[in-house]
Amino acid sequence: MTVLPQLDQSRLLRRLAEIARFGATGAGGLDRQALSADEVAARSYVLEVARERGFGCAIDAIGNLFVRRDGTDVRLPPLAAGSHLDSQPKGGRFDGTLGVMAALEVLEALADGDVDHRHPIEAVVWTNEEGSRFAPGTMGSSVYAGAADLAAMLGATDAAGTTVAAALAEAQAALGPLHHRQLGLPFAAYVELHIEQGPVLESLGYPVGVVDGIQGARWLQVDVAGRAGHAGTTPEALRRDAGDAAIRAAAAARAAVHADGDARVRFTIGRIAFMPGSINTIPAAARFTIDLRHPDAAALDALDARLQAAIQAAAAPCGVTIDRLMDNPPTRFDSRVIAACADAAERYVSPPFQLTSGAFHDAQFAARLGPAGMIFIPCADGISHAEVEDIEPDHAVAGTQVLMDALLALDRAL
Ligand code: HGY
Ligand code: MN
Ligand code: MN
Repeated sequence: MTVLPQLDQSRLLRRLAEIARFGATGAGGLDRQALSADEVAARSYVLEVARERGFGCAIDAIGNLFVRRDGTDVRLPPLAAGSHLDSQPKGGRFDGTLGVMAALEVLEALADGDVDHRHPIEAVVWTNEEGSRFAPGTMGSSVYAGAADLAAMLGATDAAGTTVAAALAEAQAALGPLHHRQLGLPFAAYVELHIEQGPVLESLGYPVGVVDGIQGARWLQVDVAGRAGHAGTTPEALRRDAGDAAIRAAAAARAAVHADGDARVRFTIGRIAFMPGSINTIPAAARFTIDLRHPDAAALDALDARLQAAIQAAAAPCGVTIDRLMDNPPTRFDSRVIAACADAAERYVSPPFQLTSGAFHDAQFAARLGPAGMIFIPCADGISHAEVEDIEPDHAVAGTQVLMDALLALDRAL
């Protein structure tokens, strides 16, 4: 007899409220950056629930966590769901966290109902999805999938010079005993629940959406080299003002990517700094970042080439070096997972609504280890990466229900 597991809605919402305490800011958001003490505390919270339930708890070499409820057939690879617990410096309570807590709730509901499933089912906490403290983003999932080099990622440093390796060692000491998980173990399938982080679902009044893929995302770091000088005595003709060159280059890059009027282009300069950063010293150097996104791989390449040429021309005679910090190509999800999510979403939205993700997610690397897909719920005013990020509790429940139903359907089908 197929027992239908029941979500415990109040438990899900309670846990979302409880885990939001870790890294809480005074304005209702989170500063819970990758492998910080607050993120490790949030990880410990998840592991405490998992250990109480007797779920298996494992960690891999980059700190990804795998909480497992065994299936009836030990030979089968795991079905997985999950997301990340790290946040932007002034981020929201639900970006990533919703997917982790929903996955944990699915495991608990299955355990409550003593429901059998053939595959092991895992809730995954990916390390450093945001990439804000340590670049690049999707660090844990890309290393797990073999798309990023472990040693290189362990050597990444934050603004204070702390390496991922050092932060990870502290985290591991705090998390207690865990089984070792080898990198690259395949998934039977992977499904991630996440907030949309955009305005579409809310504008349509849909409680859930089915994600058919993720657009491409590329991060560049632009370094401009000039010459320091006195702000009061140096005539314009003798200046090599790296700050002014960076401002011109940034404006030229923006103009270059928007020159064709392609509304799908997403171009963001999120960080800019002048060195030495003194009011009355002409900047000797400047650095700014570019976050460039587009659903089409060829368009991304063309935009990248165009903006780099514009930067070099605009910054002259100051020198420019441009490093690529991250390059996540566009991803299409697996039709079987999309269909399982769509069938499960039908009870809320008929016909189910499909959309492509503007945000990148760990699912795009999980997709290299098995069929993957995503489910979205709306967020208030489509706002994310901001402390005001918010969701409707009913939508969190609906998204978790769709996640559970899709996982159980995939358990039967695969
Ligand atoms: O930046 C992104 O797309 C993700 O939300 N970290
Ligand atoms: Mn996220
Ligand atoms: Mn994010």
